[in-house]
Amino acid sequence: MTTHTTATQVCIVGAGPAGLMLSHLLELAGVDSVVVDHRSRVEIQSTVRAGILERDSVQLLVESGVSDNVLIHGDEHRRIDLAFGGGSNRVDFHELVGASVWLYPQTSVFEDLAAAREAVGADVRFGVAGTEVLDIGTERPVVRFVDADGLRQEVRCRYLVGADGSHSLCRQQVPEVDRRQYFQEYPFAWFGILCEAPKSAAELVYSHSARGFALISQRTESMQRMYFQCDPSEDVTQWSDDRIWAELQARVGANGLTLQEGPICDRAVLRFRSFVHEPMRSGSLLLAGDAAHTVPPTGAKGLNLALADVRVLAECLERALRKDDVDALDEYTDRALSRVWKAQHFSYWMTRLLHQIPAGTEFDARRQLAELQSVVGSTSGRTYLAEGYTGWPAPR
Ligand code: DHB
Repeated sequence: MTTHTTATQVCIVGAGPAGLMLSHLLELAGVDSVVVDHRSRVEIQSTVRAGILERDSVQLLVESGVSDNVLIHGDEHRRIDLAFGGGSNRVDFHELVGASVWLYPQTSVFEDLAAAREAVGADVRFGVAGTEVLDIGTERPVVRFVDADGLRQEVRCRYLVGADGSHSLCRQQVPEVDRRQYFQEYPFAWFGILCEAPKSAAELVYSHSARGFALISQRTESMQRMYFQCDPSEDVTQWSDDRIWAELQARVGANGLTLQEGPICDRAVLRFRSFVHEPMRSGSLLLAGDAAHTVPPTGAKGLNLALADVRVLAECLERALRKDDVDALDEYTDRALSRVWKAQHFSYWMTRLLHQIPAGTEFDARRQLAELQSVVGSTSGRTYLAEGYTGWPAPR
């Protein structure tokens, strides 16, 4: 079978929001790229993901010209509620740090970017099979795969970007002696649902209770997203709609909230894990987003971190490829990691603040309530939460 060869400056493995945003930013900078993904466009689009965009993520969509939908259909949230100990406590980001976040699902960010890439005829290949990544230690790395039409393809490039998610194939190419990996496991997970119901609250409610954590989020006026802490081995088929609603109502009811119920149309268990791979560059390979780091879902940092990575990466690649600044890519790891570790800490901290620790002691429970009271009970406590939640301003 003949192999079709394409030459490009940057080959990006992974056509999720990070890969597509990078390809979009590179095009604006005059750098050409090819994007490949083993998943089909429909498959990526139909996976339910998180829904919170930090201030800087929205700004990136605005500055790069893909903000039409987020500005029309996204919902600005200026605050969240932290519910515990029988009541609810408002943390007003706008008042505290002059920032807000936007409720806009990751799948919509993907759709907007995929449509923008398609509109300019960008080279994005969904549904490829048998991807192989070769020669990252040279200046001519290669990606081989069989495309959706069954044709054998080879992409030759100067730089290769692994934006291929937490099970990254690209990451596995980094020689073991050159990498360090940091892990943190958690003894719980989230049971996530999408349901057809009116909103139960105007803002997001993060609810702590003796039965475990619950998060009340939204999607539209008639579609809502909710999560509750569960065992990582929980089997979703064992949960009827009635059983799910009873559990959610019990958890938020302890803090005085009643949920509007409706048919549940999606249910899944989301795993919790903190992971960082260092460095984020190895030779001609650069890692971005979940391929380099994963965070537990509390605080919705995953997509925001991925977008922050590719903002920095696009700038470094532009300098390397357009301005002959060969050292530009040496900066990538340190610049990206400073935010990554802050977000790692924030996600870990919010997780430990709000979840019941299985096998925790009475001391742990009392200490946790005191920590919640310290956070909401002082302006500096609330400000700390507000800064982390809305995202630290990117160094410019
Ligand atoms: C959502 C997910 C999160 O992990 C979070 O902290 C807030 C909101 C969501 O999917 O809406």
